[in-house]
Amino acid sequence: MANPGFAWSVENLWTVERVAVRFRLQPTQPGTLWLTGATPGFSPMKTGPGTLMRMGHPSLCLRHARSCLTRVLLIAVLQPGTLQAQRDRDDWQRVPDVLAALAIGEGSYVADVGAGSGYFTEHLARHVGATGRVFAVDISDRALSQLRRLAEREGLENVEVVRGEVDDPRLLAESLDAVLVVNAYHEMTEYEAMLASGMFTALKPGGRLVMLERGSADSSRSRQRQMAAHEMSLALVARELEAAGFDVLERDEHFTENPHQDPQWMLVAKRPTQGS
Ligand SMILES: C[S@@+](CC[C@H](N)C(=O)[O-])C[C@H]1O[C@@H](n2cnc3c(N)ncnc32)[C@H](O)[C@@H]1O
Repeated sequence: MANPGFAWSVENLWTVERVAVRFRLQPTQPGTLWLTGATPGFSPMKTGPGTLMRMGHPSLCLRHARSCLTRVLLIAVLQPGTLQAQRDRDDWQRVPDVLAALAIGEGSYVADVGAGSGYFTEHLARHVGATGRVFAVDISDRALSQLRRLAEREGLENVEVVRGEVDDPRLLAESLDAVLVVNAYHEMTEYEAMLASGMFTALKPGGRLVMLERGSADSSRSRQRQMAAHEMSLALVARELEAAGFDVLERDEHFTENPHQDPQWMLVAKRPTQGS
């Protein structure tokens, strides 16, 4: 099937057993479609955008949807999938509170490290305006091209896409008012270098580091096991931030509530000012 140029979503299917089902076909390469989320009896994966599972052919999804129809109420909506995913995320991500935690405004310089497809990059760019600057850092080719496409499509002239290294976000020393890291720290294998010589050095004294991640309150599991589960406990990360020289200002174990995903925690830290 040719790339349809948009995606269609089937959302909020509820089985009689009240199993939430949610899947969305997203625009992708010609001839392929992606399914996000989970369908009953199909996958134990968590629901929600971001969980991608390759489905060789759309007919697989359609066959599955047909079989579900015998026992579910199906609400199908034709809409651009990525836009809808963004709107869904706006509902629970508490972007205004993240911007407040970063303590940034018009004219601020900020980095989104591990920016991915640029959900926060876009919000940051609109918030800091034409006189501000957003450095969208990633190490993956796919993410870097998504970020460039986003900046071009949305006319975000204040966004600079930066190819980082696994141990270096390649940001200028003392150039930033704030750094944001969302759902990315657990992927940073060289976290000590990323924190200390990367983000700490790039912040101006007094600059903020705000981090959001998923992770249980249990910090007793090894770091490797937490990374493998794509999560990090807040307590562990707080210790790592302090070891890198940051002052931890705020800890919120249940920052987000999302019916389809575990909550994210939020940590707010700052690079100490001289003498503090
Ligand atoms: C799950 S995505 C999160 C994307 C985005 N922050 C969001 O919340 O939508 C994690 C991203 O971190 C990136 N990443 C992993 N290690 C990195 C590193 N050392 N420096 C920069 N980016 C990194 C990955 O390539 C990936 O794009």
